[in-house]
Amino acid sequence: MTPTSSTAHNKAVLVTGCSSGIGRATALYLAQQGFTVFATVRKESDAQNLRDLGIATLIPVCPLDLSHKETIAPALDFIRGELSQRPDLKLYAIVNNAGGGGVAPIELMDLDRFRLDVEARLVGPLALLQDLLPLIREAHGRVIWIATPAIIPIPFVAGIHACDFAVNCLARTLQIELKRWNIPNILVRCGGVKTAAPARGARELEEDFQQWPRERFELYAGTLRKEQAELSQFDARRSEPNVIAEVVYRALVAEKPRRRYQIGYMSGVASALEYLPQPLVDWIMERRAQ
Ligand SMILES: NC(=O)c1ccc[n+]([C@@H]2O[C@H](COP(=O)([O-])OP(=O)(O)OC[C@H]3O[C@@H](n4cnc5c(N)ncnc54)[C@H](OP(=O)(O)O)[C@@H]3O)[C@@H](O)[C@H]2O)c1
Repeated sequence: MTPTSSTAHNKAVLVTGCSSGIGRATALYLAQQGFTVFATVRKESDAQNLRDLGIATLIPVCPLDLSHKETIAPALDFIRGELSQRPDLKLYAIVNNAGGGGVAPIELMDLDRFRLDVEARLVGPLALLQDLLPLIREAHGRVIWIATPAIIPIPFVAGIHACDFAVNCLARTLQIELKRWNIPNILVRCGGVKTAAPARGARELEEDFQQWPRERFELYAGTLRKEQAELSQFDARRSEPNVIAEVVYRALVAEKPRRRYQIGYMSGVASALEYLPQPLVDWIMERRAQ
């Protein structure tokens, strides 16, 4: 079936993390294509920013902080309230996008921050899913997971990628567990995307350089500086967030969506590594790090 915007009619999609970047681009694009979008944000100023766009089908949900469970139940109540006022509107999909994460050697990772990232990427989305799955089942809907392209070990980004590995596990396991109700769990695996996150990560890394114990930092300083230089070249080539939004739309309207989509700068190369045996990938990554 050719995707058409009519397939969005009377369908609502919950997109998390819509203050900026991929989430915001996706929320706007889906709303423009005719979906009703529940766009979650943490700050009232971001909710107001979305309201100011004047898109009737774009409904901010605020505050939803996936790392703070006391905000989850009220956000869900709000969504249910909106749906109850429009019995023709069905909750069709969740797009799990929200999240952050920083750059650091595992030895120096800030564990409080990591705990929040795990909540934001894994525990919070599962709380949403557990609550909303009956509605998605009723709508014959689907679940989309935004993640990095591949489960391969890349040094200094374990704070982000450990969550991506786990997202990969959850999405693939859900695909099996929910198969009898035909609720696809789709991985949209993004390569480099031009958002606020890379610059924020670079800034936070500079701050961490000042705060980490000097003797520990010195152990990694050379490699981290090299990594920084490589990252800034990578940053210059990142794809626009809109290309992700378009793929999410395709995954939502395709009659038979793919289980995985690869999109964004270098996503294809990274994904290809998954076809190799794990010991070979480990060897390649170790050689690369030397
Ligand atoms: N950019 C890339 O190259 C890239 C590549 C692969 C995968 N991804 C993934 O794509 C997703 C979006 O990233 P992005 O690049 O678009 O970054 P971004 O512009 O920084 O957007 C992240 C969004 O997540 C929200 N968020 C963070 N922690 C949250 C929490 N605890 N609860 C609720 N919302 C939270 C942020 O809200 P606030 O504004 O309130 O902080 C923001 O709306 C992330 O999961 C990221 O891992 C990005």
